[in-house]
Amino acid sequence: MSPYLVTRTLPVNATDADLRTDVLQGLGRDTKSLPPKWFYDARGSELFEEITRLPEYYPTRAEREILLARAGEIAAASRAGTLVELGSGSSEKTRILLDALPDLHSYVPVDVSESALQLAAEGLLAERPALSVHALIADFTRGLALPGTPGPRLVAFLGGTLGNLLPDERAVFLKSVRSMLSPGDALLLGTDLVKDEDTLVAAYDDAAGVTAAFNKNVLAVVNRELDADFDPDDFTHVAHWNVEREWIEMRLRARSALTVKVRELDLAVSFAAGEELRTEVSAKFRKEGIRSELAAADLELGHWWTDEAGRFALSLSTPV
Ligand SMILES: C[S@@+](CC[C@H](N)C(=O)[O-])C[C@H]1O[C@@H](n2cnc3c(N)ncnc32)[C@H](O)[C@@H]1O
Repeated sequence: MSPYLVTRTLPVNATDADLRTDVLQGLGRDTKSLPPKWFYDARGSELFEEITRLPEYYPTRAEREILLARAGEIAAASRAGTLVELGSGSSEKTRILLDALPDLHSYVPVDVSESALQLAAEGLLAERPALSVHALIADFTRGLALPGTPGPRLVAFLGGTLGNLLPDERAVFLKSVRSMLSPGDALLLGTDLVKDEDTLVAAYDDAAGVTAAFNKNVLAVVNRELDADFDPDDFTHVAHWNVEREWIEMRLRARSALTVKVRELDLAVSFAAGEELRTEVSAKFRKEGIRSELAAADLELGHWWTDEAGRFALSLSTPV
């Protein structure tokens, strides 16, 4: 028997059904795109962990710096009995919070990546046998059924993952987070901040090519799951700063005109030479923008902490 609880709210074949829909819709458009959640099979989750250790990828280090400096304040303000973490991945930085929360009874990591959840939950259980870990394999954009663990509840959404949602998706998502909170609960949100273009582009286009491999991993996922014949070498990795939208776009650009077959969908997708497939946006934020997006979801921004260099912010907000 598993020593920790794993609940799957994604049906076993959800990946298949969702991926089919996303590929049909996303590759069928004039402007091609796929949602970033498809990066994260076991290989994608490993590559993301590698990214977090790259010299160019400052967000993880900046967020860890804030957590180390502010964990005591977060603990005092939240007095959490349960920590729910959305898009928890390796739960690496989370350990700082787990160590700081004196009344913590339960940890509920939520992720679409089953392999990342399993590794994290097993590691945590070995380190902290008294902690109740209830891992949830689920899509956080789909409305979550959280376990009835002791409150107050602190919902953490770290790593700047909020920025991977488009503005209208963020509005819906923040309302769904609000619906998880009762009086006395709180949201701990990690957001990357607007900064100079060179720093931002380097963080998504590292010299070692790890982010390029991560980006191309989505093609391997579609090949494996839907019997497609993408050749990753036919595409180049692109990281583009969209100055108007204030977001990084990761794209895959076709090196030449080509057609890809997606056999499971009986689909042929043509790319013109230079045509791009958008695989991720990573929005960068400003304090007032975050405050108003939270307010639109009936959440009040309380604490706002940044790292020394002002690159990244952690905020703590509460239901209105
Ligand atoms: C940018 S990584 C951040 C990981 C970790 N929170 C950190 O700060 O290092 C995003 C994480 O969210 C997960 N994820 C992405 N989209 C998701 C979705 N729709 N539902 C649940 N998890 C998702 C990925 O599998 C990955 O672990």
